[in-house]
Amino acid sequence: MEVFDTIKNYLEEIANSELNSQEVLEQFRIRFLGTKNIIKPLFAEMRNVPNERKKEFGLALNELKDKAEEKYNLVKSQLDLSADKIKPKGLDLSLPPEPMLKGSRHPVSIVMNQMINIFEKIGFVVEEEREIEDDWHNFTAMNTPEDHPARDMQDTFYLKNSVTNLLRTHTSSVQARVMTTQKPPIRIIAPGRVYRNETISARSHCQFHQVEGLYIDKNVSFADMKQTLLYFAREMYGPKTDIRLRPSYFPFTEPSAEMDVWMGTDTDTTKRLTKGTGWLEVLGCGMVDPNVLKNCDIDPEVYTGFAFGIGVERTAMQKFDISDIRLLFENDVRFLRQFSSVV
Ligand code: PHE
Repeated sequence: MEVFDTIKNYLEEIANSELNSQEVLEQFRIRFLGTKNIIKPLFAEMRNVPNERKKEFGLALNELKDKAEEKYNLVKSQLDLSADKIKPKGLDLSLPPEPMLKGSRHPVSIVMNQMINIFEKIGFVVEEEREIEDDWHNFTAMNTPEDHPARDMQDTFYLKNSVTNLLRTHTSSVQARVMTTQKPPIRIIAPGRVYRNETISARSHCQFHQVEGLYIDKNVSFADMKQTLLYFAREMYGPKTDIRLRPSYFPFTEPSAEMDVWMGTDTDTTKRLTKGTGWLEVLGCGMVDPNVLKNCDIDPEVYTGFAFGIGVERTAMQKFDISDIRLLFENDVRFLRQFSSVV
């Protein structure tokens, strides 16, 4: 019968109608529940329905009315709820927080902290010192003669209108600070930033970081230094790491050496960083020159010691496969965010 089909169609319409605003909902109400709604005239059809189907017809009509009311009430309460949300209603502590971007450590800090942890494990204590130094702590105390090329204006940033104040060119200035204020045994590491007036390129920058180490006591030997540095290399670069010490020269150590770590030439980064040799130069070191001890009032007849200065950037570049040192100082968040999962 036709009226049954009409009811069926209305039921489908109710189920499928998307009532996503107050206006659409109101139209729905007028159509199905208002004073001139479309269900009412269907009741008048009752008399045309054959007796044996009257009950079925009544039930179908009631269902239609119920479904319309049900839908209307449900949507209305949902819309009211979301309208309430827009109106501020004090603080709701049960709401989930806005997602927060986690910060990330700078790759230089990550590597520097690893280095600090490695030396702290064997009893070295962190000393942090000023970046603006005087001539004496940076050079004179460190046995660097007046005419040494490192003093040249080309390399050192002096402060305006000053011939004595400068930006430290190495963390070795902390050695002088510590030796003049502490008594042996001394066992410190000094992480920090240093400055040199160098042309900026993919390989070198005018600012970079070092971790300085100094150990002074009775009977400290070159063998102690070598073992300490081998321990460092194997903690930092892996338990099977090979090192080599090359004779070198620093005014403040005698004998002096530079330490290389075997990296191989498997990747473009290691190829570039090792200049194709596979050996990455990571630090300068040596036995503290007796003149340095004397300058700082420590008796070289009683005490000996070793010192080293590790370059941080090169290791950071090798660890994270960074091809250009300038990336480390540009503070581009797209670069920095990549380290948010590293501690
Ligand atoms: N200060 C030296 C440099 O900057 C490194 C170094 C530190 C060498 C301590 C020997 C001892 O190159």
